[in-house]
Amino acid sequence: MQSGKTLITGGILVDPAQGRHGRFDLLVAAGKIACVSPRLECSNVRVIDAAGKIVLPGFIDLHTHLREPGFEYKETILTGSRAAAAGGFTGITALPNTRPVTDNADTVSFVREAAARAGLVRVWPVGAITLGSAGRELTDMAGLKKAGVVAVSDDGRGVADDRILKKALLLCRRLGLPLLQHCEDESISADGQVHQGAVAERLGLAGLPSAAEEAMLKRDLRLVAETGAALHVMHVSTAGAVELIRSAKQRGLPVTAEVTPHHLLLTDDAVIAYGTMAKMKPPLRTAADREALRKGLVDGTVDAVATDHAPHSEEEKSAGFREAPFGVVGLETAFPLLFTNLVRSGIMTIDQLVTRMSPAPARVLGLPYGTLAPGREADLVIIDPDARKTIDRHRFYSRGKNSPFHGLEVYGLPVLTMVGGRVVMAGGRVTETDEEAEYAGWRL
Ligand code: DOR
Ligand code: ZN
Repeated sequence: MQSGKTLITGGILVDPAQGRHGRFDLLVAAGKIACVSPRLECSNVRVIDAAGKIVLPGFIDLHTHLREPGFEYKETILTGSRAAAAGGFTGITALPNTRPVTDNADTVSFVREAAARAGLVRVWPVGAITLGSAGRELTDMAGLKKAGVVAVSDDGRGVADDRILKKALLLCRRLGLPLLQHCEDESISADGQVHQGAVAERLGLAGLPSAAEEAMLKRDLRLVAETGAALHVMHVSTAGAVELIRSAKQRGLPVTAEVTPHHLLLTDDAVIAYGTMAKMKPPLRTAADREALRKGLVDGTVDAVATDHAPHSEEEKSAGFREAPFGVVGLETAFPLLFTNLVRSGIMTIDQLVTRMSPAPARVLGLPYGTLAPGREADLVIIDPDARKTIDRHRFYSRGKNSPFHGLEVYGLPVLTMVGGRVVMAGGRVTETDEEAEYAGWRL
């Protein structure tokens, strides 16, 4: 992933990991950041004019469902990679709830090879914690790690069995593998469809109580305290969960957490307006929960934003509410939505948002990305803060069109994505060939 030298000039660089926020030029050479300086004069380089734009370390997604192998009609590694490049993501995970489940080295290799063939963004496979994510028997995590997983998770389900989770936590600590936990006690959530509350009652749908998330989280925090092993909490959705994580961190427990754009921006009211487009797990909750999530994200209790990009087909999502699968897509809308609704509206600074979307998720995964310091990979995104569009789900690169944000106006559009010095998206268009990648930089 590299090309000749490229000079990115005239932009505002926001690189929170280096404490940089200001006008800087960047020189990219051999796929890496060669030099960052207020003004660089170079000859014989490709020039990307970033005047009026913001240059950021590429976004990193801790929580992406790519559906391949097994559910290619929902998404493939190629279509998901395109969606990532379009959204300014330079590194994404591939969650293991595929068919087969990524609980074996062969499937890990398959994912890595398909990602290399797609050749757009970095795709990091996540292995399952238990065989088939069935919660009964641990996978060969050492083997999975050797095959190339960056973390383990049974996402879609929580690991219910105490002894199994405890063993997994200890093993992960020994192997240096992050454990990503979907907190849901199924004995409480049962066949719930939407947050248990007024909307569920009004629509006559079974509720998903906040207690289902909080009960498993409490149990998990107890095991973290017992073992001293680290745990990452996926898609936090309730005020109670934020409080549990805040107090765990105050006690010094090694816990990290993520929140999705949809939980930060919507409440269960959205189910009335958008039906199955607003059906996901955990469910959209109340305005008070949303407020607590925003506060938690601002004060760092919640470390990272993660999309939980969960593509499903139109046919599946147009089934009745009870039959339709849980999940919404997120890669192509995450940054503009949060920039528009959290940064432009003054709830958080752009430095805070960038931290939560790039260096913080990189740190959860223990990967050396999320900064544009000299010597690092040239994985970056250029944003036009004033460019505006109306989200049109029919124009997503993703095969999944299941977004509750269709029709919303957003600012802050990604206009160029670079991975390892190679332009993979320019002017909103994902590059398809090496030649295009070579020249794309001029068309912002
Ligand atoms: O809404 C969700 N969709 N939540 C999950 O935990 C899994 C995901 C999926 O894979 O569709
Ligand atoms: Zn989940």
